[in-house]
Order: sequence, then structure tokens, then C-alpha cells
Amino acid sequence: MSRSYVIDAIPGDGIGVDVTDVAMQCVDAVAGIYGFGVQWRVRDWNSDLYRKAGRMMPVDGIEQLSSGDGIYLGAVGTPDVPDDVTLWGLLIPIRREFDQYINLRPMRLLPGVVAMPGIEDLDIVVVRENVEGEYSQIGGRFGAGTDGEFAVQESVFTRRGIARAARYAANAATERGGRLVSATKSNGIIHTMPFWDEVVAETVKEFPGVVVEKVLIDALAARLVMKPTSIRTIVASNLFGDILSDLVAGVAGSIGIAPSANLNPERRHPSMFEPVHGSAPDIAGKGIANPVGALWAAAMMLDHLGEAEAARSLTSAFEGTLADGTATPDLKGTATTAEFAAAVLSRLS
Ligand code: NAI
Ligand code: MG
Repeated sequence: MSRSYVIDAIPGDGIGVDVTDVAMQCVDAVAGIYGFGVQWRVRDWNSDLYRKAGRMMPVDGIEQLSSGDGIYLGAVGTPDVPDDVTLWGLLIPIRREFDQYINLRPMRLLPGVVAMPGIEDLDIVVVRENVEGEYSQIGGRFGAGTDGEFAVQESVFTRRGIARAARYAANAATERGGRLVSATKSNGIIHTMPFWDEVVAETVKEFPGVVVEKVLIDALAARLVMKPTSIRTIVASNLFGDILSDLVAGVAGSIGIAPSANLNPERRHPSMFEPVHGSAPDIAGKGIANPVGALWAAAMMLDHLGEAEAARSLTSAFEGTLADGTATPDLKGTATTAEFAAAVLSRLS
């Protein structure tokens, strides 16, 4: 086989396991058609490992991943382990150690998927800053158990961090009509957000074809629900981008269809691909998770690896399946995860 890629798959917890399982099968099928190989290194790094070993991944986990061509993640999180342990023990260290500073989250209306009433068109890319901002370990809790107990949580915004996110987003906006919406809250958050606004505006000046419009996050949330067609490309901080991407997915029909790519654009380190959704404990083990977000994320991974045709073929296969009326219960269908995947596989063959 001429081309071959080593991919670390981390199914994780809950529905992460279900969707990863079917996505790997579909990737293998499409790889067979386009003449390349995928060598999966499946990692059991999840909450079970944490219960047994007190860690979400081995001490040298990052080092193990560094030799691969990419990382494919389901989701982590389980009700009996605190969410900060699962996320900060696996997902966030991977994003940071591999400098995956862009989290790219596209969304558009998919065939056969019923969006929120009144929405006829939607095609939005959220560019989320992925390694700094509001998600930081700086802070603490003080005066435990007393009346005066308090918590402090610091945000970290750097000129370099904001500028590189803005630059990536401006590039994306260039190919998407030239208007870039920057999510802000500089009326309430008076140090970091005015700095964000300033650096975004300065950076976007490097792109003569791009106009930046800063929109306060609260108003932006309403606009995304009521008039999503007016927005094509968004640049947002870590927290705002996280929230907005779930919101946009919900407007487009289901959080289960949303993909994400954690990118190290310089390709010095592997990038990581995952659906936007979490481990969904409420439907875990029922076999009804929507695998579309995971399949779309897999297509983004193939594209990133240089297998654009295979990516397109996988995308048409899940789109065609949806267009046929096959859908999981979150999209008001009756298909199981396995039935949906079988339909995708039969389209591929
Ligand atoms: P969630 O995304 O897991 O679920 C939210 C709602 O959407 C649930 O009702 C769920 O059933 C539904 N849903 C999500 N994905 C779906 C799919 N593919 N098909 C059908 N329905 C779907 O978010 P939640 O409940 O806030 O978090 C659950 C756990 O996941 C937590 O432990 C959280 O920390 C973790 N989490 C992990 C992420 C990751 O590993 N990247 C991302 C987000 C949350
Ligand atoms: Mg999220």
C-alpha cells in the first residue's frame, strides 16, 4: 500500500465509544476505495482507566501520541468522575501540548435534517481559540467552608494567541464572503475583551478583503438563533467558541451532527479530530447516538491528511444517508447508530 497513516483513536466514554467504532469502520472502507491504509492505535484512555490507575492517560501519553499522524477522539466524561478530572486529564493537555490552537467547527444545513423552524439556510464556521483564554488553571478556592469562601478564576489572553486565531479566521473569511464576526464582551469583561477586540482588529487589517464586525456575545447568541444567515465566519475565545458551536449545531438540527478539528496549523504536532458533543450519559449504552458529528470529523481528518477525495466521498455518503430519511432519534428518526452506519457503508461500497 502506497500511502498509510497512523491514527491514535481514543474512543473515551459513553457514546464516544459507539460513534468512534462506526467512524473507524467507515474510514477503513473509504481508505480501501481510495487506496490508502489507516493503522489505528486504539487507546483505552478513559474514565475506567482513571478508576483503576488514577490517570486518564499514561504518564507518557503525549509522547506516545506524538509519533502518529493524527488523533481521533470520541468523547470523555462520566457522571461519577468530576468533569474537570476527565477534561483536564486528557483532552485539554492534548490540545495544549500539541499546540492545537485552532478549533475549527463548521456547521451547515444537512440534507434531510430539520433545522429550527424558520431557518432556511445556514453555513457557519466557528474558529475557536483553543489553548488559552478562559480555560486556565490559574486561580484557587479560599476560606473553605467559611462564610467568606470564594473562588478566583483567571483568564489568560496573549497578543500572540489572539492574533494567530484572528489570522486563521480572517483567512477562512476570505473564502467565505469577507465578513468576520468577532465574539466579544468588552462591555462587561473590561480587561481581556477590549484587548481581544484590539488585537483582532489590528490583525484583520492584514487582510484587505476582510471586514471585522465585533458583536457582543449575548446579542450574538440571539442573532444566531433568529438570523443565522447573516453570519458566515466567527472568531471567538475558548469559552465563547465552545458555547457558540453547540448553539449553532442546535439551530441546525442537533448537537449530534457537529464536527470539530483541533488543529496545529503548522503541522509540527498531530492534530485531533472529534465530534463537538460529549459522552451523553443520558443515552450511553442505548446504541442510538447520532454518528454524523463523528463521521464529519473523520472527513475533516482525511482532508487534513491530504485525502480530499476520500473526505468528499465519506461526506456524500453520510449526507446521502440523511437525504434518504435515515436518521437517529435526535433527528426524529428511528435508526440506531449501527443502522445509520450500515447505510453509510453500503453507499460507500
Ligand atoms: P453532551 O454533548 O454529552 O450531551 C448533551 C445532550 O445532547 C444530551 O441530551 C445528549 O443525549 C445529546 N447528544 C449529544 N451528542 C449526541 C449524539 N451524538 N446523538 C444524539 N444525542 C446526542 O453534553 P453534556 O451532557 O453536557 O456532557 C456529558 C459529558 O460529556 C460530561 O461529562 C462533559 O464534561 C463531557 N463532554 C466531553 C467533551 C469531550 O470529550 N470533547 C465535550 C463536551 C462534553
Ligand atoms: Mg463543548
